[in-house]
Amino acid sequence: MRVRKAVIPAAGLGTRFLPATKALPKEMMPIVDKPAIQYIVEEIVNSGIEDILIITGRGKRAIEDHFDKSFELNSVLREKERHSLLETLEKIERLADIHYLRQKEALGTGHAILKAKNHIAGEPFAILFGDDLVRAKTPCIKQLIDLYEKYSASVLAVTEVSEEEIPSYGVIKGKNIGDVYLVEDLVEKPEARKAPSNLALLGRYVLEPEIFDVLERTPYAEDNELRLTDAIKTLSKDHVVYAHKIEGEWFTVGDRLSYLITTIEYALIREDIGQKFRSYLGKLIERWNRPDASNSKQRSPGGSTRR
Ligand code: UTP
Repeated sequence: MRVRKAVIPAAGLGTRFLPATKALPKEMMPIVDKPAIQYIVEEIVNSGIEDILIITGRGKRAIEDHFDKSFELNSVLREKERHSLLETLEKIERLADIHYLRQKEALGTGHAILKAKNHIAGEPFAILFGDDLVRAKTPCIKQLIDLYEKYSASVLAVTEVSEEEIPSYGVIKGKNIGDVYLVEDLVEKPEARKAPSNLALLGRYVLEPEIFDVLERTPYAEDNELRLTDAIKTLSKDHVVYAHKIEGEWFTVGDRLSYLITTIEYALIREDIGQKFRSYLGKLIERWNRPDASNSKQRSPGGSTRR
């Protein structure tokens, strides 16, 4: 069966990024000049899926506004003959057929996905977390869709992480059988020395619709959250579940440091500003490496480029 639908859970509270996320959804944090969630919607569209369901919650209106038609703004841009900007906005409006559902309480990723049950209506579907970006030649979710269509079984995206990072993620125990791993277990945030692998789950999945039944009987964790990974762990006990080591680089906007790294990585390769930004960073590093760096640290990092 073809994968025709995608779900983006984007109703989380973003507590790791407060206070920025008090009124601004973290999925709307700009990576240079584009909100993170737009990269994700583009990844879905570039993978051949046109039916997208975004799970939103309180304080997430900006997401719907972003993909909506902006009559006022468009007419001002038209009047001022700002054609290229107008084209950019109109492209966003045409991107895809986007549906929205609200998760009234942020009770976990599994709880958010359960909201999609009726919309998915018994089909296999893709899940992309609203705060995970993957830069890849073949869109990450397309890599999973191709494998789903080859094996007719759920596929999870994984990537190698360093030993220090292992305790922050869910990792798989699996057997390598060519282009995929057969998942035997999922272990949430293990100590590095006890971890069954260094293959961490990132927020990309293609799942069989059976996941909804499993979610309905999965207990809530101690923090009162229903976790998608707990349900996938159960699913892997009586269904074949594969993991795929993705080709591409994984970035996240979920916390301060990751957000800064993601922004810099994306800015460095931009055609319009990349070269100037690289040259600025080169100078900045040189300045911070000087023996008298304590003086230069007090200077504005924006230097003469600030207006
Ligand atoms: P995260 O666990 O990274 O997001 O969920 P969070 O809960 O907002 O983050 P912190 O820990 O409080 O900082 C991954 C994705 O799932 C969504 C989030 O919006 C994010 O895109 N999510 C999470 C939901 O839709 N609902 C939830 O109840 C939890």
